[in-house]
Amino acid sequence: ALIDKGNHRHFMQKEIYEQPIVVAQTLRSYLQRLEGKVALPIPDFDLSGIKRVTIVACGTSFYAGMVAKYWFEQFARVPVDLDVASEFRYRAPVMEPGGLMIVISQSGETADTLAALRHAKNEGQTIAAVVNVPTSSMAREADLLLPTHAGPEIGVASTKAFTCQLSVLAALAANLAKAKGRLSADEEKQIVRHLAEAPAAINGALAYDEAIEGMAGAVAGARDVLYLGRGTDYPLALEGALKLKEISYIHAEGYAAGEMKHGPIALIDEHVPVIVIAPSGPLFEKTVSNMQEVQARGGKVILISDYDGIEAAGDGCIATITMPKVHPLIAPIVYAVPVQLLAYHVAVAKGTDVDQPRNLAKSVTVE
Ligand code: AGP
Repeated sequence: ALIDKGNHRHFMQKEIYEQPIVVAQTLRSYLQRLEGKVALPIPDFDLSGIKRVTIVACGTSFYAGMVAKYWFEQFARVPVDLDVASEFRYRAPVMEPGGLMIVISQSGETADTLAALRHAKNEGQTIAAVVNVPTSSMAREADLLLPTHAGPEIGVASTKAFTCQLSVLAALAANLAKAKGRLSADEEKQIVRHLAEAPAAINGALAYDEAIEGMAGAVAGARDVLYLGRGTDYPLALEGALKLKEISYIHAEGYAAGEMKHGPIALIDEHVPVIVIAPSGPLFEKTVSNMQEVQARGGKVILISDYDGIEAAGDGCIATITMPKVHPLIAPIVYAVPVQLLAYHVAVAKGTDVDQPRNLAKSVTVE
């Protein structure tokens, strides 16, 4: 079928809007919803013996892997080693026999990630590939293919592939936890229920699109932008900064909120918009106190949280973005959306080539 933009102005916008459907599509193949069970598409793959996981990827796919590290360690209590692919094989990584290596890639062709896969395979690792292109090199060379069903992604800035990667990785974390005997039947049902809520929650996030468009002006004039988050919102902060850099050419940095006072707070003044990603939950208060340190130095904060979070801490922010209240497991999938929309609208406001930003290729097939 011909791939067109439909009634969207850019592929990126179209792909952002496809997320409720493609995330649902992806989750469907990893969940037995009616029975409330998690299930890998390859049923005979035994995860119970896995002692260590190595995750390797580049760019946005790397940030999906970083979220997954939090999940695998929290739910399955399996240690995770995480690396960008261009560093991995040059640092003489230690891989124990019986380890699982997960590569994450939209294209399945990224040169560094493919080389990392081959390196780990030589070292006796079992390779699982979370890829969007089922005919790609990584899909073919992996022992276990864990497809994302995002459909073709045309925009250079990855959006729907990211939320689909997160969906697969959340399901995989749950499978691993189950295989390790860390999930009761009841907890498994709960996880399936929460994951199944993701597509509707993404729709709720998309409903904020117009309001986010209205905020774009406040960011478009900035020279530098900072993104802050804790826990799984830290990789989201990194992803937000990457998205903004790629398509709007504004310098942006993602930081763990607690690291602010170890350096980057020196950058804060009234010219630096600071995007704070903080769903209400156990880490909320801590992130808010970092946010207040920013505000005390004149920093202009845009707070992304849920209704309770905005109620508690929204005063004093230049803008707030209200997300539906969701379980922490699906929060990264939902909070990715406002981060994508903000980058998109800022780029549109600046008049850049959103789908084809300068100097970038959709798939990086050279080292
Ligand atoms: C994301 O917006 C980027 N264009 C880029 O970082 C991308 O995620 C990276 O090149 C990895 O690509 P892959 O997922 O196809 O391996």
